[in-house]
Amino acid sequence: FLKIATIGGGSSYTPEFLEGLINRYNELPVDELWLVDIEEGLEKLEIIGDLARRMVNKANIPMKIFTTADRKKAIKDADFVTIQIRVGQLKARAKDERIPLAHGFIGQETNGAGGLFKGLRTIPVILEIANEMSELCPNGWLINFTNPVGMVMEALIRYSKHRKFVGLCNVPVGIERGIAKILDIDHHRIRIDFAGLNHMVYGFNIFVDDENRTSEVFEKYINDSALVNMKNIDPMEWDEGFLRALNLIPCPYHKYYYKQSHMLESQLDQYKNGITRAEEVIKTETELFNIYKNVELNTKPNELEKRGGAYYSDAACNLISSIYNNKGDLQVVTTINGNTIKDFPPDYAIEISSYITKEGPIPYKFINEFPLSIKGLISQIKAFEINGAEAAVEGSYEKALLAITLNPLIANDVLGHKLLDEMLEANKQYLPRF
Ligand code: G6P
Ligand code: MN
Ligand code: MN
Repeated sequence: FLKIATIGGGSSYTPEFLEGLINRYNELPVDELWLVDIEEGLEKLEIIGDLARRMVNKANIPMKIFTTADRKKAIKDADFVTIQIRVGQLKARAKDERIPLAHGFIGQETNGAGGLFKGLRTIPVILEIANEMSELCPNGWLINFTNPVGMVMEALIRYSKHRKFVGLCNVPVGIERGIAKILDIDHHRIRIDFAGLNHMVYGFNIFVDDENRTSEVFEKYINDSALVNMKNIDPMEWDEGFLRALNLIPCPYHKYYYKQSHMLESQLDQYKNGITRAEEVIKTETELFNIYKNVELNTKPNELEKRGGAYYSDAACNLISSIYNNKGDLQVVTTINGNTIKDFPPDYAIEISSYITKEGPIPYKFINEFPLSIKGLISQIKAFEINGAEAAVEGSYEKALLAITLNPLIANDVLGHKLLDEMLEANKQYLPRF
């Protein structure tokens, strides 16, 4: 008997996850999928639930879909609990993006000040879910897609009673798809060794059909790097000389750091016209839910590809299936360092290609330290993540202040302090510990 509970089931992304489950039903025969949402989200949850039932019927598989606001009932005896929540919903995201921009800083929901506040709102809720799991499904795996995934992982590592958890992101599979596009081949033929942190991951070795073709493919990538991007990030091109010198594939989120002033400029242009990514997403979501309501629809609509999380089902369902089937194949996850990267203590989270087994991910040790060129930035972001995670749990103003000021997208004590105060005020409702 196989049961999955999805917390935040009313998300417009859920049909993506469902498509992944349906496509893998032979190897991952889910008996029950429980979609959970909060009271305010029940209308959306029912739209998603109905679409999910139509998709399952069309595919002719006996997966039962439940919709509920009763989280504990859903978590009870679940084999996997996937978490895709957004505390404060898109309104809070708009603030994460807008308030920093108003102060002249990058406005991004997982990086910089926005990332910190998304973390402060989210972490207490995820720890609550993790603690419920330790009682209600002690053998179940917590699979977290909720951002900021790195900071959330640091919180789980430090404070969760439940110990079976893993963080997941679609950026690595997105980069593999981008490289496949450059080579004009099927993405299944590409495998890249990745290491770093969430939204701060770098591609090292590139394999095509299991053959190491790093230098040749890297050269092609340099010429065509705009094809490796996410829908939510400005497609601004990389400097070829920099890529060659770095000699690693940066992830699209790295543009906020290595192209900070240009990315800020581009965000400010949009912001002056009244738009941030949150507003774009609100529009796409409204469109998507109108499409989902159509009782004729019984597959995932293509419009979902406008979202940055497109294809996350690939990552999610491959991960779940490999744990369930103890496959031991390589996938990229955010997990506990252990003795992988010597620069870091064992209890830090890293994002790394890992062997996925029924005991969870085992990092693939293709490196044992970060190259000097990236070690500093990664360590700085790690300090941001850990201070943010501790601030969220302790309600510590000082740690929040440290996190915001240490962040390379802020890097200013006086302005960071001011920004923190304003964002705390704007988020009051979702931060009872502050
Ligand atoms: C990427 C990231 C996700 C993030 C998403 C945002 O896929 O990996 O972690 O949630 O982009 O996309 P959106 O459409 O919400 O801007
Ligand atoms: Mn992500
Ligand atoms: Mn792949």
